[in-house]
Amino acid sequence: MEHQFLFNCPVCGQPLSLDGNSFRCPSGHSFDRARSGYVNLLLPDGKHAKLPGDNRQMVNARREFLEKGFYRPMADALCRELVRELEGKDTLTLLDAGCGEGYYTRLVYDALTAAGISTQLLGLDISKFAAEKAAKRFRAEEPVQIGAASIFHMPVADASCDVVITLFAPFCREEFLRVLKKGGLFAMVIPGARHLFGLKQAVYDQPYLNEVQEYPIEGLTFLRSVPVEDTITLRDGEIMDLFMMTPYYYKTSAEGQRRAADLTKLTTETSFEILLYGKD
Ligand SMILES: C[S@@+](CC[C@H](N)C(=O)[O-])C[C@H]1O[C@@H](n2cnc3c(N)ncnc32)[C@H](O)[C@@H]1O
Ligand SMILES: [Zn+2]
Repeated sequence: MEHQFLFNCPVCGQPLSLDGNSFRCPSGHSFDRARSGYVNLLLPDGKHAKLPGDNRQMVNARREFLEKGFYRPMADALCRELVRELEGKDTLTLLDAGCGEGYYTRLVYDALTAAGISTQLLGLDISKFAAEKAAKRFRAEEPVQIGAASIFHMPVADASCDVVITLFAPFCREEFLRVLKKGGLFAMVIPGARHLFGLKQAVYDQPYLNEVQEYPIEGLTFLRSVPVEDTITLRDGEIMDLFMMTPYYYKTSAEGQRRAADLTKLTTETSFEILLYGKD
């Protein structure tokens, strides 16, 4: 079955439709579909050059780490919360903004489908490496579209999404509000105060707690916050995978990086906040 294509032309905002192996808008702007299935909707004018997103190494590290299930309790909690909010709906459109390599995208799609909600899913990430890996998690017949594009300029029509989720990705209130339908649901996952504190203790002389504050979003009604806490133990290469998928890796001194590389075992807390909001 051919599914409706929901991305819009990032140049002129008109709907795109499939024409051979590329997507075209009525004005003739055209975007290639990669063999993996994602469509590259980044504007070719270099506008996004300062926001390249995760590189191949970071994407691979995140894939390796997440696939081992270290963050699965948070993924399960997120799925539970979404199903709880959305149960009873027959169909919906969900956007995963900054979907990365698609670990949560896939689990959320499966959870909603299992709950009997027919879900049309959109995933966007500015990193082509991430978009490619995310696209490969889905079969052609599944109603899932993955695009390479920026959260700050989403090729998605106004008021077209019932749900927007975003996990550890840049935040753009205007865009999230614009694409959400009235009555829509917004779910955001952020790190809790003690998230990865064990890793920070291992690499920093003066580890600091994450700042967690009230997170009001103008234009949305806060529904609830769901904390998810766990302790994980990592060995050998798993430690570097975790380190490389965090911003710490790039902000840490050579000495700190060496300390992480020398670790053979690391036990650390993980701590997340799932924040849920409704659009009136
Ligand atoms: C920490 S990762 C999280 C990925 C995924 N949500 C997850 O939790 O596994 C942040 C992601 O945001 C993407 N990203 C960074 N800037 C972006 C932007 N302006 N627009 C879209 N994605 C962006 C990166 O490429 C990366 O995949
Ligand atoms: Zn166009």
